Amino acid sequence: MLSDHSSIHAFETRFSQLTIPTMDLLRFTTAGSVDDGKSTLIGRLLYDTQEVFDDRLEKIRDASNGQAGGDGAPHTDEELELALLTDGLRDEREQGITIDVAYRYFSTPRRKFIIADTPGHEQYTRNMVTGASTAQLAVVLLDARKGVLPQSKRHGFIASLLQIPHMVVTVNKMDLVDYDEDVYREIIDEYREFAEQLDVKDITFIPVSALHGDNVVQQSENMPWYQGSTLLHQLETVKTTADRNMVDFRFPVQTVIRPHQDFRGFAGEVASGTIRPGEEVTVLPSGKVSTVEAITTFDGDVEEAGPGESVVISLADEIDVSRGNMIVRSRNQPEVARSIDADLCWMSEEPMKTDKAYIIQHTTRRAQAFASKIVYRININTLHREEADTFELNDIGRIELTTADPLFIDPYKINRQTGGFILIDPDTNNTVAAGMIRGVAQDVAPVGEQSEAKAERTTSPNVVWEGLNIPREEREQQNGHKAAVLWFTGLSGSGKSTIARKVEQRLFERGCHTMMLDGDNVRHGLSGDLGFTAADREENIRRVGEVSRLFFEQGNLTLCTFISPYQEDRDRVRSLLPEGRFFEVYVNCDLETCKERDPKGLYEKAESGEIKNFTGISAPYEPPADPELVIDTDALNVEESVQAVIDQLVDEGFIAPDAS
Ligand code: ADX
Repeated sequence: MLSDHSSIHAFETRFSQLTIPTMDLLRFTTAGSVDDGKSTLIGRLLYDTQEVFDDRLEKIRDASNGQAGGDGAPHTDEELELALLTDGLRDEREQGITIDVAYRYFSTPRRKFIIADTPGHEQYTRNMVTGASTAQLAVVLLDARKGVLPQSKRHGFIASLLQIPHMVVTVNKMDLVDYDEDVYREIIDEYREFAEQLDVKDITFIPVSALHGDNVVQQSENMPWYQGSTLLHQLETVKTTADRNMVDFRFPVQTVIRPHQDFRGFAGEVASGTIRPGEEVTVLPSGKVSTVEAITTFDGDVEEAGPGESVVISLADEIDVSRGNMIVRSRNQPEVARSIDADLCWMSEEPMKTDKAYIIQHTTRRAQAFASKIVYRININTLHREEADTFELNDIGRIELTTADPLFIDPYKINRQTGGFILIDPDTNNTVAAGMIRGVAQDVAPVGEQSEAKAERTTSPNVVWEGLNIPREEREQQNGHKAAVLWFTGLSGSGKSTIARKVEQRLFERGCHTMMLDGDNVRHGLSGDLGFTAADREENIRRVGEVSRLFFEQGNLTLCTFISPYQEDRDRVRSLLPEGRFFEVYVNCDLETCKERDPKGLYEKAESGEIKNFTGISAPYEPPADPELVIDTDALNVEESVQAVIDQLVDEGFIAPDAS
């Protein structure tokens, strides 16, 4: 068992040595709550795969006399043996919790395995991140009697944050629920629903009894209804080759080697991608270009190097290269950035300071780093974002870092090697945080500050507005009508969509070019990450406004149906368009009528408190001060309302009068 400090060291080592396993090695992590039977499960794996040494077993038998289990119930001898085989740790037996990350090794004829066994107790998020950082697969343990607990969700969340490509959820202690299929199904349905919010590509569920060995190594005879893999079979056969990034060649230089006058090479480990002699490369940060002359290993020259291989690369030209530089393929380069956006797990007892210079270790490169902005902290139980002004031990959240020197980064999502980093406190030399890069910082506003920050229209760095291929005026001429944004605003249930859809149908029949953006649809995807706070609505309307402007510039009559309750937000969209092209339609319907219609049953839910911030009930609606058109749905029916819009479009010269 490693000490607290050495477990962090293990994480650190990953970033300085970057070991990527070869095909026949699987690194996996286990996480479970205190009594889920994780130790027993690992013990069962080790025991049943015959990797237990006789003498070790002897010692365990001696130690297990008279012990009680973590949940207070007396365990059978066998259970004790298995658990103690896994955790010889005194602490665990005294406290009933595992307190650190332990690495264990076993093998079968098909594969070798390294288990990073990490605790499920709340305060040990740090250890879990440490243990899981190199894992290719995460085993999450649930107790069949207890079902899905907050911890079980936390494990899934961390596995997804760390982009562990495969997850196996074992529902343990099936023997204690009579191997009941219904119990199992209910649990996995609940977990699957939760996991849909996560970014996990591959998830497998297995009902097991670690104690009796059901579906761990041997197929269970007690659960004939389960025809899937055993845990071991899953571990042995899960395909991991596709998980490695074979495309983006990144070679962080560790050392410059110059054994004699005529040879100079750059030693390091290939972080990702492959390279061959003769290929053109660029050295960062200088940007100098050369060709790979030779790739040398311990066993002589090779024709190709790939992820995880330690090699020496020599180049055709004499160019300056030093430790911390990165050699990449000229036509596939990482981002060079001094300001990065990252997910961070804080691992130090000492809270983060925003005015302190930390050291960032990223591949073989080190630089001074400041936490320039805390975007939010994640409440790991609810997965909700919270405002924060510092990170404390085990906190996870989003942050913006500014570095003194540029880093050569890829998003962690596509490259765990060049996307991961650690922060070091220069005063103590301790690792204080582990981070996952999302990209170059884009000025993300912290929760609560969004309105101010978003008020100005922002542009990404290094972009130039591309002139339109075909000018709008030419399109309008060909289309035979003008372009405009028809903005329908009003309460939920006021009839915005119904009217707008019929208007669009009429325009379409006249041969007009139309586009439609609707609140409910936009919130599937484009604004799917937003809720209904004032700040989120503002952002929703901002996005829609920008999209509607792009559609407008392509000559379309663009219909938008959004509650858009704030005058300021609507005015901002208006300001994006040329004078006279924003056509605001206020669909006026009194609240009582909307409540009575309640087409989606939302008002009822809002009134019972089930939905928060509901417009008209628990959130405001500001009617337009000066709309182009007001439709009184109390006075007009749908057809009349549609006609009113069409008439006004004709009056204002957007479309020609109907020929018929
Ligand atoms: S807006 O205020 O941000 O413009 P938008 O038009 O996109 O809202 O979405 C409104 C739709 O979301 C409504 O038609 C309704 O179906 C749904 N909805 C869910 N929760 C709320 C809420 N709290 N307030 C208003 N609409 C909600």
